[in-house]
Amino acid sequence: MLSSENMPAERLTIHHLGVDSDAAEVKETDNQFAADVRQGLSSTPKTLYPKYFYDELGSQLFDAICLLPEYYLTRAEEEILSEHADTIVRAAKDIAPADDGGDVRLALMEFGSGSAIKTQRIIEAALRVQSELVLTSIDISVSALERAARVLLQLFPNLSLTALAGDYDAALDFLHDTQPHLAHDATHKDTARPRTLALFLGSNIGNFNYDEAIAFLRRLRLTMRDDDALLLGADLRKDPKILEAAYDDALGVTAAFNLNILVRINRELGADFKLENFRHLARYDDVEGSVKIYIESKREQIVHLKGLEMEVSFAEGERIHTENSHKYDHATLSAMARETGFDLAQTWLDHDAQFSSNLFVAGN
Ligand code: AVJ
Repeated sequence: MLSSENMPAERLTIHHLGVDSDAAEVKETDNQFAADVRQGLSSTPKTLYPKYFYDELGSQLFDAICLLPEYYLTRAEEEILSEHADTIVRAAKDIAPADDGGDVRLALMEFGSGSAIKTQRIIEAALRVQSELVLTSIDISVSALERAARVLLQLFPNLSLTALAGDYDAALDFLHDTQPHLAHDATHKDTARPRTLALFLGSNIGNFNYDEAIAFLRRLRLTMRDDDALLLGADLRKDPKILEAAYDDALGVTAAFNLNILVRINRELGADFKLENFRHLARYDDVEGSVKIYIESKREQIVHLKGLEMEVSFAEGERIHTENSHKYDHATLSAMARETGFDLAQTWLDHDAQFSSNLFVAGN
């Protein structure tokens, strides 16, 4: 569990929003996992939500994915942020002058912060131009939040951190309930509030299909004021061979990451998935612009889920759809911004133009 032990407590606030992916104790949120697994494995085709990848091992396997030679996304985004963090922070501050005519203070809010390595580039840049910074970190993995908090608070003495442990929906609910001045509440002006620069990095948005992404961005927009901004990391469409290699690496780390969801179901729901009877599969759908990730049954078999008092049968070659990783182009990104109350103000690319960092400015 996330505790304030050995952490500067006065700079850290933690809210557990319910959908903790790897909480140590059993609580009602485990029922959500159980209910989602029951529903997903009863459906045709079978599905599981990618948010359930991120138990403690899953979060660490994802960190390992980010180091793989085939997984260019993290390196490309790191390159962009290393090179342009100062410009990005400046651009966010310069959207509009502060109400008192002085320099705008920024506050950061990150969705799906994970190990928060890339976040450090933005934090450093912000702390070069202001003396203190507040960061709200949202992640489904409590263990990842805890590790990141430890590192960030140690690295940056002038940073304070609010950690929200939960999924994006729970975090948006929380923000809607706690933000004193939502975008639709134009009557409420609070000049003391810093401008929010929200971060949604790593192409995390790619797990959503188009409609889900639009819905998420609209809800996010409602927690923001005019002239707040969102830095959206979005992976770009490219050669299917490069994409399929990025999601089916030679070392088998992505396969382990994907199959770990079965290990989790075995552990938490008393199931008897035999991993050797399943394989990882990644296929790029060029029409949709999406890498689709599956777990495929190598043969006909029956799996028992004791915790759900349920049996699931698989045909040979039958698949569980576990994830989509959507790829974008500039036109789509700017349409998404327009549809959700933002303007796509600026886009930065890495030197190979594989990945994009997009500054969405909350419009009025
Ligand atoms: C964390 C959703 C951005 O889609 O690239 C990586 C997850 N899955 N390899 C991605 C993932 C398999 C990753 N995101």
